[in-house]
Amino acid sequence: MDRKDFIKNCGFACVSGAAFSAILQGCTSTKIMGGKITGDELIVAISDFETKAGNEKHFKKYVVVQNDLLQYPICVYRLNENEYSALWMQCTHQGAELQVFGDKLQCPAHGSEFSNKGDLQTGPAETKLRTFPVTIEAGLLKISLKAI
Ligand code: FES
Repeated sequence: MDRKDFIKNCGFACVSGAAFSAILQGCTSTKIMGGKITGDELIVAISDFETKAGNEKHFKKYVVVQNDLLQYPICVYRLNENEYSALWMQCTHQGAELQVFGDKLQCPAHGSEFSNKGDLQTGPAETKLRTFPVTIEAGLLKISLKAI
């Protein structure tokens, strides 16, 4: 292998390693779970947000819920102990599936961004995300799907 090939191979290995690392980071920060649908409600346990570090209990900012009956996933944000938001992960611009990055959802198609309450932050989309009412009952979040 000559010097040129060596440098080219090293560069490719570095880029591949960085891309793989970024993919792994993305996977670890998103919790995707199967949600149970009962009647017209999607049920999510509040305990699904819990994580533990030693004896300390922490909460994930969000979980992404999927079900075969849903055309798109629903991202459920824990805003505080008594407040959650449930967001339909379909971009309001041309319908691409959104990706979650911390406190916002981004569209991989043309870059629209939405807040953790579904409000539009960056276009080209022009309207906020579809949201669903969430009620809390006996440790469960009941997300009303009547609007679907
Ligand atoms: S489909 Fe999402 S910004 Fe265009």
